Amino acid sequence: MGKCPLQMVRQEEFQKEYFFDLAISFSEETKMLQLIDQPDPEMMFHENYAFFSSTSKNMTLHFEKMAQHYMDNFILDLNDAFVVELGSNDGIMLQNFSRKNIKHLGVEPSSNVAEIARQKGVNTISKFFGKNTAQEIVGEYGKADIISAANVMCHIPDLNSVGAGVDLLLKDKGIFVFEDPYLGDIIQKTSYDQIYDEHVYLFSVQSVNYAFERHGLEVFHVEPQHTHGGSMRYFLCRKGAHKMRESVTKQLAFEKKLGLDKLETYEQFAKNCAQSKTDFVDLLKTLKADGKRVVGYAATSKSTTVLNYCNVGPDLIEYICDTTPIKQGKFSPGMHIPIKPYEDFKNDNPDYIVLFGWNHAREIFSKETEFSARGGKWIVFVPRVEVVSPDDYMVKNAG
Ligand code: TMP
Repeated sequence: MGKCPLQMVRQEEFQKEYFFDLAISFSEETKMLQLIDQPDPEMMFHENYAFFSSTSKNMTLHFEKMAQHYMDNFILDLNDAFVVELGSNDGIMLQNFSRKNIKHLGVEPSSNVAEIARQKGVNTISKFFGKNTAQEIVGEYGKADIISAANVMCHIPDLNSVGAGVDLLLKDKGIFVFEDPYLGDIIQKTSYDQIYDEHVYLFSVQSVNYAFERHGLEVFHVEPQHTHGGSMRYFLCRKGAHKMRESVTKQLAFEKKLGLDKLETYEQFAKNCAQSKTDFVDLLKTLKADGKRVVGYAATSKSTTVLNYCNVGPDLIEYICDTTPIKQGKFSPGMHIPIKPYEDFKNDNPDYIVLFGWNHAREIFSKETEFSARGGKWIVFVPRVEVVSPDDYMVKNAG
C-alpha cells in the first residue's frame, strides 16, 4: 500500500518523519494476516501516546457492559476474584472493578494514559506484558481469573511472549478474553483503514487458535461486537477447561464460507482497496472542481492509512477536526493536513465532511444534527465511497 508514517506531527518535525512500509502478508498454512514491516512498539506506545479510550461515550458504555458480563458470567466468587487487563489504557474497563473493590491490575506500557488510570483509582503498572511481567504479577498478586485485553493483542508483534505470560498468570479454570477488529468485517467492508502501524495482526478465529494453541490455549466461545467497525471477542481457556460452545463452530464455518483461509480472497481484497482509492480521489477532485469545501471528522489512526494510500493532502481536505487536545495544532502524518479543535468545525460551515471516525458513526451523527440540518453533507468510504445521509447510513450499516 506504500510508505506510511506513524503519529501526528508538528510542523518542525516534517523533515524527520519516520515512514514504514505499509504492506500485509497472508499465510495459508497459519491463517495469519499481518504487517510485514512492523514498527518498534516503543515508537508507538510511550509517554506521549495520543489515544485515550475514554474520549468516546459509546466506548465507556461498551466497557461497562463488558465488565458486567465478566462479573455475571465468568467470575464465580467476586470476593476472591483477580482481574488483569493488558493495555488497560486510561482505566476505562477496570474502573468498573475498582469501583466495586474487586482485586484488579492494569498493565499499560504508555505511561501518560497509565497515570490517568491511577488518578481514577485503577491499580496500574506501566510495562509491556510478557513472561517476566507475568511472573512479577503472580509473585505479588497471585494468579488471575480473567486476563482481558481490548484492541491490544493485535498491536503486539511477539504473541508468543504474551501466550507464555498468559500461561503463567492464568488460573486453571481462568479465561483469557480479548477483542480486536475482526478480519471477516474488514474483508466484507473493504475497511482497509484497519491496516495501520499499530495493527500488526488482523485476527480471525482460525488464526487466534493457531497463535495460542502452542501455549495450551483454545478458543471456546466468541461474541461478535459492533465496536471499531466490527470486532470479535475471543474467549480462550486451557484446552478442555471449558465446554466448547456452538458460537465457535458457527464462526469457523462462516470464515470458511468467506474464504478467509484462501490467498485469492486477499488478492480480491487488494483490488477492492484500489477501487476504493480511485473512487475517493475522484469524488474529492470533483468536489474541489465544483468549489466545495471539504474537511475531515476525527483524526483517527485509520485516517493515516486512507490519506497516505490515497495520497490526499490539504489541497483536497482543508483540515481534520478532533476532540483530543494532544492531537490539535499538529498535522496528519505524512500528508500534513492540519488537525484543528472540534470547536473550529462547530464555528465553520464546510460543504462536506469526511467521516474518518466511521466506527463511531452513531455517536457522531447524533451529535451533528445541526451540520446536516444546515445542508452539510457526509462522505464515507466504508463499506464504499459515497455521500450519505446519516439516517440511511445507520439503517444500512447498523452498529
Ligand atoms: P479511534 O477510531 O481509534 O477510536 O479514534 C477516535 C478518534 O476520534 C480520537 O482521536 C477522538 C476522535 N473523536 C472525535 O473527534 N469526536 C468524536 O465524537 C469521537 C467519537 C471521536
